[in-house]
Amino acid sequence: MLLELAQSKKILFFGGKGGVGKTTISAATALARANQGAKVLLVSTDPAHNLGHLFDRKIGSKIVSLAAGLDGMELDPEETVKVHMEEITNSLHRLMPIQLRSEVDKHMKLSKDAPGMQEAAILERIAEVVEQGVKDYDLVVFDTAPSGHTARLMVLPEMMSAWTEGLIQRREKADKFAEVVRGMGRDSSMQDKVFGDDAADSDKMRESGIRKILNRRRLRFTNLRDRLADPEQTSFVIVLAAERLPVLETIELHKQLKDGKISVDGLVVNKRSPEGEGSFLAERHALEETHLTTLTKALPSIPRQDLYLLARDIVGLPALENLAKLIENNSGD
Ligand SMILES: Nc1ncnc2c1ncn2[C@@H]1O[C@H](COP(=O)(O)OP(=O)(O)OP(=O)(O)O)[C@@H](O)[C@H]1O
Ligand SMILES: [Mg+2]
Repeated sequence: MLLELAQSKKILFFGGKGGVGKTTISAATALARANQGAKVLLVSTDPAHNLGHLFDRKIGSKIVSLAAGLDGMELDPEETVKVHMEEITNSLHRLMPIQLRSEVDKHMKLSKDAPGMQEAAILERIAEVVEQGVKDYDLVVFDTAPSGHTARLMVLPEMMSAWTEGLIQRREKADKFAEVVRGMGRDSSMQDKVFGDDAADSDKMRESGIRKILNRRRLRFTNLRDRLADPEQTSFVIVLAAERLPVLETIELHKQLKDGKISVDGLVVNKRSPEGEGSFLAERHALEETHLTTLTKALPSIPRQDLYLLARDIVGLPALENLAKLIENNSGD
């Protein structure tokens, strides 16, 4: 199932609770696809940077080569927020009257830690990576941070484009109003009173500058939203453990994603207790089956792939290659 998804989609997201195996499985799937000759980009949006731990090397926010056909990068939230804030501050400096500069700086300092700022910045980076990634690669695989955060992130493009749209409309209204006042003032001294002569021109330039920036942002978010909501291009894979709460949380995450128009096309049940390894594991295996019955009943049409708990941790390329082979061999499941 995993390999089929990797073959048929352009963008795959792996999500789920902490520690279930998102990083390991997304990386192994990306590797399995790269081994078939595809060009694959593996991107971590998780602040914890565990892609580097998994490959046992430094990765960072610039694209590096991880294996033949497989590149990777880790989006760094702090750095992303910093760059994002610098860009906004620079544009505002250009667009606002010079005497407001210190106000702008004060405002931006406060905004840095505002709720949602980190998500907005990461989302903007995801949009950039997706835009470029689908051009340069056959497949872009995202390893995401634990669920709550990710579900919010996936519906954010919708919110952000609605928000920018609102701003644009408000600006347009303000523009029209300004035009009317300017028109009224043509034969009188009103124009001077309201704008001053030079002020009228620089105001106009500022307005069109701001509108250009807002339009660009809106386009970026609507493009991302359209791409994420297109099941031909994008799928979300939920990774989980075969336990009671994770199963219930998976059903809930699926609902949130569906509400956000994101298509969930794969469930990976990881770290399953192996069979034929003694009575303790046999008992656990049977218990897992009952939990998975709940899962299948709630989400009957989503393909599922189970992976057994392996005896060792999965660290480094050779271990990942092994898992990639397991995923390949399991692909008919
Ligand atoms: N099938 C498996 N068998 C044995 N160990 C596994 C298996 N899958 C993952 N692991 C191990 O479980 C640990 C957690 O895996 P991983 O980092 O991929 O989870 P994650 O969901 O990305 O975690 P986080 O939410 O912290 O990002 C790692 O030590 C990994 O080696
Ligand atoms: Mg991880």
